[in-house]
Amino acid sequence: MKKLIFIIALFTMVFSVAAFAGANALVDQRCGSCHDTARVYNKKTDKAGWDAVMARMVKRGMKISEDEYKQISEYLYTM
Ligand code: HEC
Repeated sequence: MKKLIFIIALFTMVFSVAAFAGANALVDQRCGSCHDTARVYNKKTDKAGWDAVMARMVKRGMKISEDEYKQISEYLYTM
């Protein structure tokens, strides 16, 4: 039983790391097309601040799918 819990915990960890790396690559692709991604990584703000940034980038002409929007937002909140 303990082994099973360990395996599940391990899978969860690997999966979250993979999701995180995926979102990171997505930021490089989607946010790096108009400006340096340093602009993204240097910014320190909260959830509401990132929502405002994301909404503004869409206004500036950013084209991303709803799914990518969600992934990037969730990633930004954790920075
Ligand atoms: C279509 C072009 C475009 C794309 C794609 C884009 N941006 Fe921007 N971004 C801009 C422009 C233009 C500015 C400068 C004007 C401004 O600040 O609104 C800017 C400025 C910024 C700033 C600095 C201003 C601030 O509020 O601190 C941040 C942070 C930012 N972008 C984040 C992002 C993120 C995160 C993404 C990807 C999800 C992204 N941008 C994608 C065009 C873009």
